[in-house]
Amino acid sequence: METLTSAKQSLAATTDFLPLQGTDYVEFYVGNAKQAAHYYMSAFGFQAIAYAGPETGVKDRASYVVRQHKLTFVLTTPLRPGNEIADHVFKHGDGVKVLALRVDDAISAWKETTARGGRSYQEPQRLTDESGEVVLSGIHTYGDTVHLFVERKNYSGAFMPGFRPWNNPHFAPADTGLLYVDHCVGNVGWNQMNPWVKFYEDVMGFKNILSFDDEDISTDYSALMSKVMSNGNGFVKFPINEPAEGKKKSQVEEYLEFYNGEGVQHVALATQDIVKTVRDLMSRGVEFLKVPTSYYDDLLDRVGKIDEDLEPLKELGILVDRDNEGYLLQLFSKPVQDRPTLFFEIIQRKGAKSFGKGNFKALFEAIEREQAERGNL
Ligand code: FE2
Repeated sequence: METLTSAKQSLAATTDFLPLQGTDYVEFYVGNAKQAAHYYMSAFGFQAIAYAGPETGVKDRASYVVRQHKLTFVLTTPLRPGNEIADHVFKHGDGVKVLALRVDDAISAWKETTARGGRSYQEPQRLTDESGEVVLSGIHTYGDTVHLFVERKNYSGAFMPGFRPWNNPHFAPADTGLLYVDHCVGNVGWNQMNPWVKFYEDVMGFKNILSFDDEDISTDYSALMSKVMSNGNGFVKFPINEPAEGKKKSQVEEYLEFYNGEGVQHVALATQDIVKTVRDLMSRGVEFLKVPTSYYDDLLDRVGKIDEDLEPLKELGILVDRDNEGYLLQLFSKPVQDRPTLFFEIIQRKGAKSFGKGNFKALFEAIEREQAERGNL
């Protein structure tokens, strides 16, 4: 059963020991960062921002920073075997390593979270150059994924010390209207959802604002359970999925098998004009899951009046769902690497604060059709 509570209400009585200003960046460890950066620029409309590598004194890696509005992605690849980055790519394929969170005080963030049982990934470190200072610290979360706390209030450079500005004046693809990270979903193993919910509650002061059980999220074949964790101001939301028993292998199990463990399943990117954004993304080669056109036959009966014309939604396969506060439009990409692991969600919220429960069944059936094609159902 779906249950919804307000994180703001339940946090009102206490002070937030980990005030977060939002997602600072998402860092992907990939097999070829030069080409991945090009993909996010050409297909998703990100702009070149900064680069770090041997030319900037970094010996073991190359990192490309790309940005679109408040969305910053870092694509990092190892230059040699036998280090954390190379091992990560070998084990997981391309995937999210860092969900970096903007804070006012990275030292306090590290002290507060490690004092509550968070396992340190990086002790507070001050990085300085002629543009000022960035303070970084970090803790481990599920799988090999980490949270970095980024304090950049005293920094005016392109990204952070160690990086140099990077752009190509001959290549500046137009943006696609992607604005910020709406939420990031983690897939965890059997019986691991509640321990990670507790981690976000105890270590980071998050609240469970929404829960889905396997009756909400099941098809004829497979099932999953999910709990949505939110920080106090609601700027950072992390749904956590675990597989549930079904007749066949669930999409979360397929992920865990191919990612070789727990990790980020999808990152939801917000837009204010999903029809335009999705049309742009499709024309640049981004592939999306397709629901049957019968989904649209009774859509308006299910969700009521919406501002958008039905025809473009149907043409592009955009899904709609409504909750008590409004509605949302969303669409899910196919995996963005050869392993059936990470994908993106494009979401436009028109009041709704939920995650598209009404679309789960149609969506998961679409995922299962793809799973079956891969021979993994
Ligand atoms: Fe989502």
